[in-house]
Formats: sequence, structure tokens, C-alpha cells
Amino acid sequence: MKVLAEALARRLERLPEGTTCFRWIDGELPGVTVDRFGPVAVLSLYRDAPDEQAIAEALGELVESVYVKRRPREARKLANETPELLAPPLPLIGKAVEAITVSELGAQFEIRPGNGLSVGLYLDARDARAWVRANARGRTVLNTFAYTCGFGVAARLGGAKRAVNLDASRKVLDWGERNHSLNSLSVDRYDFVSGDTFDWLGRFAKKGESFDLVILDPPGFATTRTSRFTAERDYHRLVEAAAKVTAPGGVILAMCNVAQTERAFEEQISRGLVGRKSREVARFGASAIDFVNADLRCHLVELI
Ligand SMILES: C[S@@+](CC[C@H](N)C(=O)[O-])C[C@H]1O[C@@H](n2cnc3c(N)ncnc32)[C@H](O)[C@@H]1O
Repeated sequence: MKVLAEALARRLERLPEGTTCFRWIDGELPGVTVDRFGPVAVLSLYRDAPDEQAIAEALGELVESVYVKRRPREARKLANETPELLAPPLPLIGKAVEAITVSELGAQFEIRPGNGLSVGLYLDARDARAWVRANARGRTVLNTFAYTCGFGVAARLGGAKRAVNLDASRKVLDWGERNHSLNSLSVDRYDFVSGDTFDWLGRFAKKGESFDLVILDPPGFATTRTSRFTAERDYHRLVEAAAKVTAPGGVILAMCNVAQTERAFEEQISRGLVGRKSREVARFGASAIDFVNADLRCHLVELI
């Protein structure tokens, strides 16, 4: 398939140095994305693509292993019943790879290609991680919904005074600790907090603890200890709670990855900041080098 080699060449030409992970196919084939992690391709299918095997075989000519993730609209519902069907733990093509280390702008991350639908790093946030790395020096950082601590690693590599990573899952925080070690960063267990974001934002506020940079990157839907969070409807609550733990002059990095307009997201953020003086520092999305259809929105807001 010529399209695969052409798309690869286009990206390799423009990708930043020290980057071995990127979105390889986005928009070139209908209903399909491909992520590249070093010698591994991760093929995601968003609707029944009868040519799954053909695409995988064509990819297999260019990489060592091809893993498949089937993401039909009802995947969330199916995920509990047939995880192995949606995200087979073994590759469709090539040899099994339990874990590999990839590089993004020189930072190292552990990728587990057979680990369910998410393999360790959300590639669309590369520019946001780069912003954090470039602006973290001397700052204290709170990384909520931390997952494998990509933003925590970026902050520490950028010289943050401290970065606290908060996630509901201990397992992903352990993974995040390994990512720190891969980058020769020390690991202080107190900086990897397992718990509910809303709970902890409340606790920090009660204790009067604040941070110079607060990163918000929630999933579209999340269950909290006391309620359900839907990004489209409830993002303002998250911003309001984050503002209470943001130091004066501090910045909130508000990210959202659901299909919505720029205006709608802006309104959620403004609603969360009612009565607070703030100014927008920057806004961007996924990198145009390798992404075409990403929904990701990143807004940086400074509290004055
Ligand atoms: C979209 S990922 C976040 C991506 C991450 N910020 C990154 O840069 O890779 C969602 C994460 O939120 C966590 N999560 C979901 N609900 C949560 C909650 N109520 N409190 C804390 N973490 C939660 C999940 O465990 C998962 O790791």
C-alpha cells in the first residue's frame, strides 16, 4: 500500500528530533488510524473495516509487529465483556512485544502494545508535554488524571521543583514511576498519589496547598467517588476546583479530548473561573505534523 510509505515519509521529514513515536496514519484511510511506536505499529479500527487483515499485512512489511485495537462506537460497552477481542494482547502480525521504550523529544516512555486499548502514551498531547517541559522550571506542578505520568516526566525534565501525579489507578502510577526511572528522574512515592481527582483537589484546598501549574486532562467520562463526570457537561466544576489550588500567577493547563467546539470548551473554562481574574496564555491542539482529525483542545490560563 503506497499510502502507508508516503504518509510515513511525510511525517519523518518534519518530526522533531529524538522522536520515535507518532501518528502514522490519520485521515489517509477511512475509519483507520495507525500509531507508530519504534518498531511497532498500533492499528486502530473505528468501524468494521473488512480490509483489516490487508492493512495489517501491508503495515507488517514496514515494521516488526502490528497490534490491532478495534474501537467501534459501542466499544465502551463491549470493553468489559470482550476486551481480548477489542484489543488482542498478541500482535496480528510479527513477534510479540511485551514492553518497549520509545522516545519523544528525547524523553523516554515505556509502551506496552498489548495492554488493552491504551498502550502508555497519548501521542496527540506531544505539543502540550513540550509546553510543560519548556515552562516548568522552578515551578510546583499538579498533574491530575496522570495516567502513566507523561506530563509529570515532562515537568521534571523541564526542571520543575516538584510534580505531584494523581490518578485513580495505582497500576498506571507504577508505570509512571517506571517512566521517571527511564529518564533518570528520582521517584518520591509521595508524588504518586492514587485517588479521586475531585477528592484530592478538595483536600489540597482545605490544607491551603497550592501549585504553580495545574494540569487537567480528564477522560470524556469518569466516575468520581461521589458522582459521574462528563467532560462536555461538567468541565467547569473541574476548573473551579483546580483554581482553588492554583497559586497566584499560576497557570491551569485545561485539556479536553471530546468532539466539541472551541467556543463550548472556552465557555466551560470561563464558567469555572467566574469571579477570578485570569488571562489566556496560549491555546493549541494536537500537532499538525502527524494529526489531522484529533479532537484535543489545550487552553492555558493564567490566574492573576
Ligand atoms: C485520558 S487518561 C489521562 C491521560 C494523561 N493525562 C496523559 O497525559 O497521558 C485518563 C486517566 O484518568 C484516570 N481517572 C479516571 N477517573 C479518575 C478520577 N475520578 N480521579 C483520578 N483519576 C481518574 C484514569 O485512571 C486514567 O489513567
